[in-house]
Amino acid sequence: TPIDAPSDPALALAALREELLSRPDLPEFAARATQPVFGEGPLGASLMFVGEQPGDEEDIAGRPFVGPAGRLLDRALAQAGVERRDAYLTNAVKHFKFTPTGKRRIHQSPDAGDITYYRPFLAREVAAVAPQLVVSLGASALAALTGKKLPVLKTRGQVVTGLTGHPVFVTVHPSYLLRLPDPQAQADGFVAFVADLRAAHQSAG
Ligand code: URA
Repeated sequence: TPIDAPSDPALALAALREELLSRPDLPEFAARATQPVFGEGPLGASLMFVGEQPGDEEDIAGRPFVGPAGRLLDRALAQAGVERRDAYLTNAVKHFKFTPTGKRRIHQSPDAGDITYYRPFLAREVAAVAPQLVVSLGASALAALTGKKLPVLKTRGQVVTGLTGHPVFVTVHPSYLLRLPDPQAQADGFVAFVADLRAAHQSAG
């Protein structure tokens, strides 16, 4: 059974923000980020989506999933019959990790230490939102939520139990679809992603 929701979830999320803003021991890359990017969406949402980390556009906007991956996620949610505004969206890692290369900021994947660092924040966020189902987008989210290195492509479509005791539905990250080599693979990947989201939506009720 999932760990208990805090008695005042909104207060718990506000405390989480405060704490993240004042942590003296943030990973080094956090200092280069514009701001932490917190989750957004209604408390008590039946679906909670967890991505990897904010990207370039999310870092600037201060909102999750507003860049290219977010736009793809929006299209997939719409096709799956999920209203984005009814869902809670967040990330495993709350700061944008990048390599500064000239004027471009190149996304760097979080390592195991980064995921471990932010895990308590994510766990408290899951507890506060108390969703019916957590949807894990990609390998970083899955590692953050389960503490295990499960192969996403072999586990997708399955529901596993997360460290917080909440059910976690496994699927790919939308960025994975953007990186597929050819248009046909991207189209097929998108259809499969929509099917996963529809299944998650149905199993969350
Ligand atoms: N945008 C996010 O907010 N999270 C991701 O994982 C990718 C893009």
